[in-house]
Amino acid sequence: MKTLNIAVIGVGSISEAHISAYQKHPAVRLLAFCDINDAVLEAKGKKHNVTKLYSDYNVMLKELPELDAVSVCAWNSEHAPISIAALNAGKHVLCEKPMATNAADAARMVAAAKKNGKRLMIGFVRRFGNDCAIVRDFVQNGSLGEIYYAKASYIRRNGFPGGWFGDLKRAGGGPMFDLGVHVIDLVRYLMGNPKPVSVYGVTFSKLAGGRALKSRAQYQSVSTQGAGEVFDVEDFAAALIRFDNGAALNVETSFALNVKTDEGKIELFGTKGGVRLDPEFEFYSAINGYPANIKLATPTALSFLDLFDNEIHHFVDCLLSGAEFRAPMEDGAEIMRILSAVYESAASGREVSLL
Ligand SMILES: NC(=O)c1ccc[n+]([C@@H]2O[C@H](COP(=O)([O-])OP(=O)(O)OC[C@H]3O[C@@H](n4cnc5c(N)ncnc54)[C@H](O)[C@@H]3O)[C@@H](O)[C@H]2O)c1
Repeated sequence: MKTLNIAVIGVGSISEAHISAYQKHPAVRLLAFCDINDAVLEAKGKKHNVTKLYSDYNVMLKELPELDAVSVCAWNSEHAPISIAALNAGKHVLCEKPMATNAADAARMVAAAKKNGKRLMIGFVRRFGNDCAIVRDFVQNGSLGEIYYAKASYIRRNGFPGGWFGDLKRAGGGPMFDLGVHVIDLVRYLMGNPKPVSVYGVTFSKLAGGRALKSRAQYQSVSTQGAGEVFDVEDFAAALIRFDNGAALNVETSFALNVKTDEGKIELFGTKGGVRLDPEFEFYSAINGYPANIKLATPTALSFLDLFDNEIHHFVDCLLSGAEFRAPMEDGAEIMRILSAVYESAASGREVSLL
């Protein structure tokens, strides 16, 4: 069996999910780690017994011709420069979401992959859940009929991860970028990837990401709580996105909101039935003329790490077999156009056309 040599660039919090999945794949050799934070890099190398450690990805790409592919797990503003450098060096790339901090950089990443004949997958991990596969099956079998409306929320009452997540320059945006990206992509994927035609968005920064609260968020960046930590992104955002198939998506996201509980919910509404994912799958229709809510007899949810195992094993298997990625770069670039339009609309107070 061919072995793929893999490096992980940016070995902070989420890299652990990538590393653990790569370690479970029999055709992967975890060759090197790269991080600009020496302490984080050394600790990660020691923990996973990886000895090729680099603080500069350009040096790593030059010194390791045997490298086949990299996972890009640095903060968002580094996704484009790192991915483009890796693609130009002849490596395949799995880049974490959001793909970039703006649509132009995302387009440059797509162009770099094409120019070099290398492959770029985006870390839309929610596409790899059982619930996602089941809903797609329902949609493709026509059980929902024509889907014309969707609602997605990814609301955290107190969920600012700290560090660079609040720094516009490095993050590119707040919860709409960090959390909204997951649910917008998932809804669009479930609908069969319609083209976005317009976006109306609002953003607010009223609670400074909840930083005055005494309890800390569950998910934390490794670079959290540094001196001079800034918070100049939104802490709540909402948008109405219209697609070329006539359907609309209403999305809400927050790092901080005075709401009773956190909420993660995705609902699709069609002429024959509606469906809800998160926290569990439910199908709404009518049986014999009576409104009916249907749950499956088997559990549908996967754990956080199971999702990453599925995603990363798929990435490796596609590189080995040549099969199409389930989360291709073109979809990542389309989502970047939507995200950029949310902020443009929020700033102007007008709907933004994407035609
Ligand atoms: N798919 C998911 O569900 C999911 C979950 C969490 C985070 N993420 C994404 O993963 C990425 C990382 O998030 P995180 O929470 O691990 O952040 P983190 O702050 O914990 O780790 C980021 C690491 O990247 C390093 N880094 C920054 N620039 C670098 C460069 N040029 N070269 C090498 N290393 C560099 C930092 O030093 C840090 O150690 C983000 O893009 C985030 O959106 C995805």
